[in-house]
Amino acid sequence: MSSANPRTLARVIQSLPTSDGAGVKLRRSLGAQPGLHVDPFLMLDEFFSDNPNDYLAGFPAHPHRGFETVTYMLDGHMRHEDHLGNRGDLGPGGVQWMTAARGIIHSEMPQQTEGRMRGFQLWINLPSKEKMKPAGYRDIPAGEIPVVRLQGGGQVKVIAGAFGDTRGPVNGNGVRLSTDPLYLDVHLPGGAEFVAPLTSGHNAFLYTYEGSAEIGPSGQAKPLPHRAAGVLSDGGEVRVKASADGVRFLLLAAKPLHEPVVQYGPFVMNTREEIEQALADYRGGRLAATA
Ligand code: FE2
Repeated sequence: MSSANPRTLARVIQSLPTSDGAGVKLRRSLGAQPGLHVDPFLMLDEFFSDNPNDYLAGFPAHPHRGFETVTYMLDGHMRHEDHLGNRGDLGPGGVQWMTAARGIIHSEMPQQTEGRMRGFQLWINLPSKEKMKPAGYRDIPAGEIPVVRLQGGGQVKVIAGAFGDTRGPVNGNGVRLSTDPLYLDVHLPGGAEFVAPLTSGHNAFLYTYEGSAEIGPSGQAKPLPHRAAGVLSDGGEVRVKASADGVRFLLLAAKPLHEPVVQYGPFVMNTREEIEQALADYRGGRLAATA
């Protein structure tokens, strides 16, 4: 069956090497330039290194306000601590879903001195009415993330939202987030085809972290190279065909906010005045005040 309105590949955003924190080397696609967003997704970083010098310095204490950060580890081990006294470990396959909202000051530090560190950090904007709500976070160990085995090989990990009848731990069971995010990690063997239904009107993109793929219905399929974000047109389902060597990719979709975005580093608000307030609150030790 073919969808009445299949999505096509509208834009390719190549990831660029950069560094953040205390010098952690990473590749940034969304967020690599001001305004390079896929509303409500603000930024996507991939960190991947076998060289401890690329990651050991970690992300010492730093603030956030106005959005959510989602860290998904593939390999390695990070410890996070925040000003509220929360402390958690993030291991292979685990996710930390942190809602910074009115403010969090936290650190994210590698807990390994050798071996591979690989994973992603995604920033998802919050609507204006939620930017100043209390901060919160969830640690989701790998064992709580359901895996759907695909016919013909391959698999889908459902981190947020639903894939078929399988519901992820975030925005799947119970509380629905206002941006209604879908976050899938999909592995396909060489040449395999995959179709995912997506909500019409939601913005969506893929990020190929191993291999490459063709995106879109046959006849209109376009190549998405390795380590690039592929932004999709609006529509219904998306079809992905793995290259001969197979592909692993993230598939993200969410309801756009259609609100002004004013970003200053780790603060993302709607107006300049709100950014000034965030800076004043941070300098005055009030950014992450609980009351
Ligand atoms: Fe952070």
